[in-house]
Amino acid sequence: LEFDLGQIDLGSFDHYMLKEIHEQPQALRVCLKGRIDNRAGKVVLGGVQPFARELARARRIVFVGQGTALHAAMVGEYVMEDLAKIPTEVEFASEFRYRNPIVEEGTVIVAISQSGETADTLAAVHEGRDRGATTLGLVNVVGSTIARDTDAGIYLRVGPEIGVASTKAFIGQVMVATMLAAFIGRRRFLSQEQLESLLAAMERMPDHIERVLLQSDAIRDATSRYVDRENWLFLGRGVNYPVALEGALKLKEISYIHAEGMPAAEMKHGPIALIDDGMPVVFLATKNSQYEKVVSNIEEVRSRGGHVIAVATEGDEEIGALCEEVFWVPEVPEPLQPIVNVVPLQLLAYHAAVMRGKDVDKPRNL
Ligand code: BG6
Repeated sequence: LEFDLGQIDLGSFDHYMLKEIHEQPQALRVCLKGRIDNRAGKVVLGGVQPFARELARARRIVFVGQGTALHAAMVGEYVMEDLAKIPTEVEFASEFRYRNPIVEEGTVIVAISQSGETADTLAAVHEGRDRGATTLGLVNVVGSTIARDTDAGIYLRVGPEIGVASTKAFIGQVMVATMLAAFIGRRRFLSQEQLESLLAAMERMPDHIERVLLQSDAIRDATSRYVDRENWLFLGRGVNYPVALEGALKLKEISYIHAEGMPAAEMKHGPIALIDDGMPVVFLATKNSQYEKVVSNIEEVRSRGGHVIAVATEGDEEIGALCEEVFWVPEVPEPLQPIVNVVPLQLLAYHAAVMRGKDVDKPRNL
């Protein structure tokens, strides 16, 4: 058995989604278990080890996925280029499979999927494989078709996900993609010192998520002040742009509120026309290389009457003074920020859906 009954039992929670949000620290601990060798200072990924040399020589990496997995893949694109310095793209599997993609020598296709059964993602793997690519699967369900049909892979090990809205799978996907980037990066340009500092930060992530979960009641209260609004924007830059997309997806899929995510800089090229008095705009505004730019985007929204809900780094008084609501997250290195930053947005979506009386675990049409 890959899991025990407690993992599929609702326990004291009202919904599987809430249970799975709260399981995230433990899910991440299991995901990391045995994969960080502190003594040797390295990432241990048994499944991809036989392909280590080939991966280090890869000329191009293409992440494919759908839905939440696609958002994790977008984070994967950032971290792979940042840590491994390999040109990386991300594509909807459904687009990749139908558009006669170019697969040259040295192309590696990395499929991300919770179930390992999503038809478009599987077809993209087959398309890549048939054109000569090496294929990897970052998959949760052991023995699933994508896990079997790829050359190698890394299991997420986050346990069964029963709620339809994906939560713990996302943080597992991002963590595994980051481990893969570090694994390849160390074989290219990433120094031992950089790797060890990243590994130490990875091991602290479960505790950080626990801290964020303590704010669930405060997040519910903040959400209650905006839950009647029908249009929301989610904005972020860099590694936080996919988190904005994921926050918007969570809100729309379970509460049926119209929400859009986009890069914060894109707002001024049209969507800014939507901002009127009291429109909720959620910003990912944690301290990182793009922080100052995000602060000026927040000011643009504020000056047009939008209400800003920010995810910010603990102790950031500037954001505290500037925004109507702030959800605090601990300070973590930039590549790992999506893993903590997404958690308040999962809770926001959950509380909004409950307040609107929606069936959180079985959203309509999904
Ligand atoms: C969608 C689900 O149908 O499939 C999403 O609603 C999910 O939550 C997406 O992210 C992809 O699924 P998987 O199993 O390939 O990660």
